Amino acid sequence: MNVMEILDHEHQLIAPALQVARSYARRLALPGAVADPVGLELVGFLDRFVSQCHQAKEFVLFVSLLRKGHASVTSPVAGLHAEHSRLAQLTEALAVAWQMLMDGQAGSGELVAGYLEDYAVLLQEHLRKEERFYKVTHAVLGSEDQAELKAVFDKVEQETLGTGGYSRYSQWACELAGARF
Ligand SMILES: [Fe+2]
Ligand SMILES: [Fe+2]
Repeated sequence: MNVMEILDHEHQLIAPALQVARSYARRLALPGAVADPVGLELVGFLDRFVSQCHQAKEFVLFVSLLRKGHASVTSPVAGLHAEHSRLAQLTEALAVAWQMLMDGQAGSGELVAGYLEDYAVLLQEHLRKEERFYKVTHAVLGSEDQAELKAVFDKVEQETLGTGGYSRYSQWACELAGARF
């Protein structure tokens, strides 16, 4: 797979998880909601696979595109990068609220639900923008750029998810997409 195919493949794993996140948020907003293993995996997936790994790869891609200096690819980068920052803030807030839910604090279910819903809505729209954007960027990257970026992507995966982590999260997302909520 080239780097655009890798990112696209990851979007295919992330999109169903966001649908699950929204269903899960509706359940958590109900009185008496408690933390469970599905939520724990979901919060971990959003933090580690999406934020730390996928978006770190995209940051490297964005920098590489900015260096190219083509107006068609440089202009959308700032907006996408700003959305990554907003998503990172929500991921952090979600982690705090999730810990409160694990600790059994009153009202924390609604808090997690709110952050999850906001996060999922923003990321769903963000994925749509990126998919349109990546159709343009593909043409700008030569084979040397692809090879360089692929090497950095591999390094990011190893550093953020560890050996076997990428496969584990990929498999989890595939199974989640097939599960009913
Ligand atoms: Fe992104
Ligand atoms: Fe993305």
